[in-house]
Amino acid sequence: MEEVLIIDFGGQYNQLIARRVRDLHVYCEVVPYKKVDKYLEKKEPKGIIFTGGPNSVYVEDAPKIDKKIYDLGVPILGLCYGMQRMALDLGGRVERSKSREFGKTTTRFDRSCPLFEGVEDSITWMSHQDLVTDLPQGFEKVSSTDATENTAIANKEKNLYGVQFHPEVNHTEKGQDILKNFLYKICKLEGSWTMEKYAKTAIQAIRDQVGQGKVLLALSGGVDSSVCAKLLEKAIGDQLTCIFVDHGLMRKNEGDQVEAAFKDSKLHFIRVNAEDRFLKKLDGVTDPEKKRKIIGEEFIRVFEEEGRKIGSVDYLAQGTIYPDVIESGSGDAAVIKSHHNVGGLPEVVDFKGLVEPLRQLFKDEVRELGQELGLADYLVWRQPFPGPGLGIRVMGEITKEKLDILRDADAIYREEIAKAGLDKSINQYFAVLTNNRTVGVMGDYRTYDYTLALRAVKTTDFMTADWAKIPYEVLEKASSRIVGEVDHINRIVYDITSKPPATIEWE
Ligand code: XMP
Repeated sequence: MEEVLIIDFGGQYNQLIARRVRDLHVYCEVVPYKKVDKYLEKKEPKGIIFTGGPNSVYVEDAPKIDKKIYDLGVPILGLCYGMQRMALDLGGRVERSKSREFGKTTTRFDRSCPLFEGVEDSITWMSHQDLVTDLPQGFEKVSSTDATENTAIANKEKNLYGVQFHPEVNHTEKGQDILKNFLYKICKLEGSWTMEKYAKTAIQAIRDQVGQGKVLLALSGGVDSSVCAKLLEKAIGDQLTCIFVDHGLMRKNEGDQVEAAFKDSKLHFIRVNAEDRFLKKLDGVTDPEKKRKIIGEEFIRVFEEEGRKIGSVDYLAQGTIYPDVIESGSGDAAVIKSHHNVGGLPEVVDFKGLVEPLRQLFKDEVRELGQELGLADYLVWRQPFPGPGLGIRVMGEITKEKLDILRDADAIYREEIAKAGLDKSINQYFAVLTNNRTVGVMGDYRTYDYTLALRAVKTTDFMTADWAKIPYEVLEKASSRIVGEVDHINRIVYDITSKPPATIEWE
């Protein structure tokens, strides 16, 4: 398999670089600079990218790399710090300039250089203070700006390239073309990474790992665990048991939809209807953190109890995905992605190991794989839903009555968003049942009922988010339908705070 090594020097865009490379259908792995030797013992990448990193190659403990990497005969592209690292390592000079070059910059390219073939002069994104002032032997300048003489350098004979800007960010207009040139023209890759191919290799890898063993998976109905289940089912069929803990805090009909998606498959599907247990534990609890803790702990207890009933289990499967692996900073240590955000693994039984078949995939690749495997659209395109479910969307005390009110209202809201064609452009949208009651009038009667809040956000990383500017007509329709169709709601408000300062969820 064609593979590119991305050496992580600690830059802020490392995941983004990997995403861009994958978008060009090339498999890549992000490896921390300290672990490159270990990686190279096992693998032979067809290309190497150095990421950006700290301010300067001269800061104390600036990340370094064994210089033998330049003699491997593998093409290298250094980005920002990566270019400075390369220049310094190979005998060039890197100096601190008086001012920092930051932001969008018009950049000129030498189109006779394979890296810039067909790339028009255009805007790039700069963020640096150090400059490469003297080029190492064998290098030439292949790009410049008004402020920076050597914006890109190349040693075509040795296939070593460096750019001072960040081709991976959207602000660099021709960034993807430049990366494409590197991968396709310089590394001579074909771009053969597809989910169809991945599914085949992953299925074989699961069979090799598991043999005749029994595998247990906690299925939440979220994208990752659902795709994981489908993939495992194709690989090992009835050796797989999935436990779906229905905590009674799911959205309208959601539990049944998850069951419907899996009940006819070869795998053993166990749905545990644990609503009563959860509601009993949550009785009278109003503090958000306490609610989360109770729900998380109870989930583990239920999962453990069911697991023990199955008897011997050899492997525990998890839907860990690549961003979790990169964020752990380790690249190879086992990342424990806890079910429903509870620390640690459930102590079901002694098991031999973990099966994590999505460890190398980004979220959109997981969705693509899900489609490839024929998973229901509903599960593939499901928006994120917190582990504690509606437990953190019912403010104050949680009761079955309040949950049912919220379920009905939320279903109408989601239906109207979908009808308006906004469901794919808004990243998360849901209703929240506040603990506030106000006076209203219905027909000739006075009402004293709940206020419902509608929330919708646009975000890519869910760490920051903008409130979505939904057309008034859509809000109006959702509002009048909810008040008309759901008892005990007489007022609707729309949440117009972004994150920060608010969070996406209300609790
Ligand atoms: P906040 O509210 O922190 O949410 O802005 C960010 C994203 O995380 C989701 N979320 C959770 N997901 N378990 C989860 O699996 C949780 O306990 C949890 N809490 C929040 C939230 O829905 C949003 O997508």
